[in-house]
Amino acid sequence: MPPSKSTLLSVILPVFFAGMIARPPAFDEYALRLADRVQSANITAEVVSEKVEQVVHSSGFRFFCVYAAVAMVTFLVVKLYKAFTEPLAIYCNESKIAYFVDGPSDGKTAQERVGDFKRARRFGQLPPVYPNGWMSILRSDELKKAAHKFVHVAGKNLVAFRGESGKAYIVDAYCAHLGANLAVGGSVQGECIECPFHGWQYRGSDGKCVKIGYAEKVPEFAKIPTYHSCEVNQRIYFWHHAEGKEPDWEVPAIEGIDDGTLQYIGFTVCELDSHNEDTPENGADVAHLDYLHGPRSFTGHVSFSDVSWEPHPTEKHVAVLRMTSNPSKLLGIITVPRETFQIDQVGPCFAHFNANSPLLGKLVLIIAVTPVGPMRQRIVTTGFTQKGLLSFYIGKRALAEQYYQIEGDLPVWANKKYLRNAMLVKEDHLIAKHRRFFTQFYSENSPKYDPYKESTEW
Ligand SMILES: *[C@@H]1O[C@H](CO)[C@@H](O)[C@H](O)[C@H]1NC(C)=O
Ligand SMILES: *[C@@H]1O[C@H](CO)[C@@H](O)[C@H](O)[C@H]1NC(C)=O
Repeated sequence: MPPSKSTLLSVILPVFFAGMIARPPAFDEYALRLADRVQSANITAEVVSEKVEQVVHSSGFRFFCVYAAVAMVTFLVVKLYKAFTEPLAIYCNESKIAYFVDGPSDGKTAQERVGDFKRARRFGQLPPVYPNGWMSILRSDELKKAAHKFVHVAGKNLVAFRGESGKAYIVDAYCAHLGANLAVGGSVQGECIECPFHGWQYRGSDGKCVKIGYAEKVPEFAKIPTYHSCEVNQRIYFWHHAEGKEPDWEVPAIEGIDDGTLQYIGFTVCELDSHNEDTPENGADVAHLDYLHGPRSFTGHVSFSDVSWEPHPTEKHVAVLRMTSNPSKLLGIITVPRETFQIDQVGPCFAHFNANSPLLGKLVLIIAVTPVGPMRQRIVTTGFTQKGLLSFYIGKRALAEQYYQIEGDLPVWANKKYLRNAMLVKEDHLIAKHRRFFTQFYSENSPKYDPYKESTEW
């Protein structure tokens, strides 16, 4: 990626500025040559140096110096202001991160090279592809009042919309009339979504068609499917169940997020071709930490001790991962003491990371792995910290660090084959435990994926 304009400016401007003050040799040389020339025209050296002084003290030069100084200071102030107030936003580049494809090569574009990897993939004997449970589909700030969004999740095409009351609804994307996609050109009217094709209006709460502008009577059976949704922790969730069961657990509200006690510090997003279970299985895979998760941007090498993973004693759909980091160096200077983190895997599709340390303060990360297609996950992490400028900045660095840790796993997840009978050694026993824990999220009709079958269905 080429450096940003502001980075270039911050490099070039100081060079100019410092150069002008120091009057580099080239400038002096030029003055001497000028002096030679004017001497032959019988002007004394005094006159020359007087001329040079005049240039240096000219209003143009002074203007330039002041301009450069002001530009630099402005740039620094803006950078600092952003670092301490602008939430983080990182989008992963799948080609680079999941396939190490850096650009065209071998007569192929980067996209074609990634396509080769995807076609050559062997999936193995996959578990069902959509687990039963709550799935995060949007961040709350992505759905404005009276706006709608197309959502592809668990193989379904849905439209999420926010009524004028502020409540969010999730309904099937297709109009019951002639099958137009409500999310493409539709509009929100009160608590209803209106089809762009003939203006049929569907109520968000139950999907019933309540108005057809041009028809005398609305048919009793005109209705589109609706889905259970909830909005918690500044996220909108959708309930998926292969047997059509009602939700039997709730998305736990994290204290301080919805009441605004904690501050929002940003998000990171990556999409990749992987199985939904691979990401949570990572939590129970203690041994991989030392291999994939080396030093990145934030601290030096962080190693962990006392890692434990256990199903929650009373809440069947929850598993708790606890890990203690060994002391490390922040930016090579500040010693970060031993810290204990807790990550709650809540249901199949999201986890809550909690840290509360004397140095970093309170940090909460919500890591959601949403299956958008059979072998396609969208991993979105949002972060919150206690209020304060410094917490904001450090929290942002920690959120970025968490993203870099995920980057370490992506190439593995995007290219692995699922081995049902994995060859586990004794130290891997938690992986087997996790796989048993996860079977509770599959049921008889959970969709299976057979890529070979699909390819002949054309
Ligand atoms: C140069 O100027 C000086 C004094 O101003 C004068 O005496 C001298 O003759 C001049 N030389 C030439 C070559 O014009
Ligand atoms: C991702 O990286 C590839 C390979 O370097 C590049 O061709 C592509 O433009 C990048 N995509 C984005 C969105 O930056």
